[in-house]
Amino acid sequence: MFHSLMETLEAYQRRDPAARSKLEIFLLYQGVHATLYHRLAHWLYCHNWKFLARFVSQWNRFWTGIEIHPGAKIGRRFVIDHGMGIVIGETAEVGDDVLLYHGVTLGGTGKDQGKRHPTIGNNVLIGCGAKILGPFKVGDGARIAANSVVLSEVPEDATAVGIPAQIVRIAGRTTHYADDVDQTSVENPVEERLEALSARLELVERLLDEQYKNGNFVPKNMR
Ligand SMILES: CC(C)(COP(=O)(O)OP(=O)(O)OC[C@H]1O[C@@H](n2cnc3c(N)ncnc32)[C@H](O)[C@@H]1OP(=O)(O)O)[C@@H](O)C(=O)NCCC(=O)NCCS
Repeated sequence: MFHSLMETLEAYQRRDPAARSKLEIFLLYQGVHATLYHRLAHWLYCHNWKFLARFVSQWNRFWTGIEIHPGAKIGRRFVIDHGMGIVIGETAEVGDDVLLYHGVTLGGTGKDQGKRHPTIGNNVLIGCGAKILGPFKVGDGARIAANSVVLSEVPEDATAVGIPAQIVRIAGRTTHYADDVDQTSVENPVEERLEALSARLELVERLLDEQYKNGNFVPKNMR
């Protein structure tokens, strides 16, 4: 428990340039408080104290502005920066080292039964105002741009942007592959073929000339 708290405080120091001492983060950062309340609510939920779990979760929401359903599974070193207006649904799963900004929703679309909320991989960044809706996976190392609405799976190391979100980068490389095509300096394939044929013809003519000079070659019409 103490180790988990210390590594969370260190994660805040690493992720938030404005964060100062661990004591300040522990006492004043609502993201830390929300995570601690959630750990208690989740424990109660798993031990079938559903009402108490919900009570703690509602208190958490009132105190921090962050609503995490007691059933949600949250990984280690979870950082919520500027936490406010965040909603994390019952069947959401969040991996380790995830960073969330204000206004994020990990929700459902209302169309699914059972598992309704997303599964977030490890080391994922979710920008402010982003909505991730549905029971799909957001791969490890993915980045969700601020204010995006993500409605389908996001691959590992991808950057998803827009409404509905599109994958615009994978491992830092653009996915606009058409932009990579060099359309101005492409060789003309017909011209290339003609040049190759012309070179072969020259070779054949030279060989025939040599045969002719050596007297080995008599054209058909001279026989
Ligand atoms: C998505 C993000 C993480 C950057 O990821 P990245 O992989 O480095 O992506 P890039 O910055 O190279 O941007 C990729 C493309 O998406 C565009 N883009 C990035 N963020 C965007 C957004 N929120 N909305 C629309 N387009 C966006 C970029 O302009 C770029 O477009 P291009 O391909 O035409 O050049 C970052 O833009 C972001 O949104 N961070 C959230 C930060 C946040 O919420 N801060 C709140 C602090 S209070």
